[in-house]
Amino acid sequence: SSLFASDNTLWQKSTLNEIIERGTLRVGMEAGYMPFEMTNKRGDIVGFDVDIARQMAKAMGVKLELVNTAWDGIIPALLTGKFDIIMSGMTLTPQRNLQINFAQPYIVVGQTILLRKGLEGEIKSYKDLNNKKYTVATKLGTTGEQATKRYLSKSDIRLFETEADGALEVANGKADAFVYDLPFNAIYSSQNPGKLTHLDTAFTHEPLAWGIRKGDPDFENWLNNFMRQIRGDGTYDKIYGKWFES
Ligand code: ARG
Repeated sequence: SSLFASDNTLWQKSTLNEIIERGTLRVGMEAGYMPFEMTNKRGDIVGFDVDIARQMAKAMGVKLELVNTAWDGIIPALLTGKFDIIMSGMTLTPQRNLQINFAQPYIVVGQTILLRKGLEGEIKSYKDLNNKKYTVATKLGTTGEQATKRYLSKSDIRLFETEADGALEVANGKADAFVYDLPFNAIYSSQNPGKLTHLDTAFTHEPLAWGIRKGDPDFENWLNNFMRQIRGDGTYDKIYGKWFES
């Protein structure tokens, strides 16, 4: 197809146009990262990202479709057009940014530690875990895996497919620690009182951002301006309060 429309104006192909023509915004996410996206008792995916996605679709005047996608395949799925955007608590890392573009970050988090009961006296910081006598669980393909390999390279690292499976190892006493994003760990520890300790000082800096395919400045521009709008008009704070302050 030509770069020029029939009236000879330069035609910029944008995902934005596809979404409007289709009448549906398709959002890729992997349910399981509380409170960003998780499955409720009815089987629906709910969370912070979901509520923002709903506002986004509303602002575009289209329907919303959530595409639940395994974490290790989420970037390839975006690149092959299975959905329009990743809204999945994804950390903007320089490595991922070689493959995809990101909108301006919408929140900043970091890695923290869930500690097995009984270890609270001997482990005061992530540094104390960097020893081959400790078993450290984290989630495959995440920045949790990256941070564990970087800062806890001497420990016995166990990779899990889901956040819940990794954290459960610690709650069960089968692993000494679980390394993951602070928001998940904070909720998990409050849901499992007395079973583990949350060392809640983040030891990495992680801006989370929406991911889109490269070469689409129109979509990126729309997303950044949408974010500025919802931050300014109270929508963002309202959704944030619902998921992070209750
Ligand atoms: N922030 C971490 C990362 O980007 C974990 C994100 C996992 N997201 C999810 N929806 N399961 O690697």
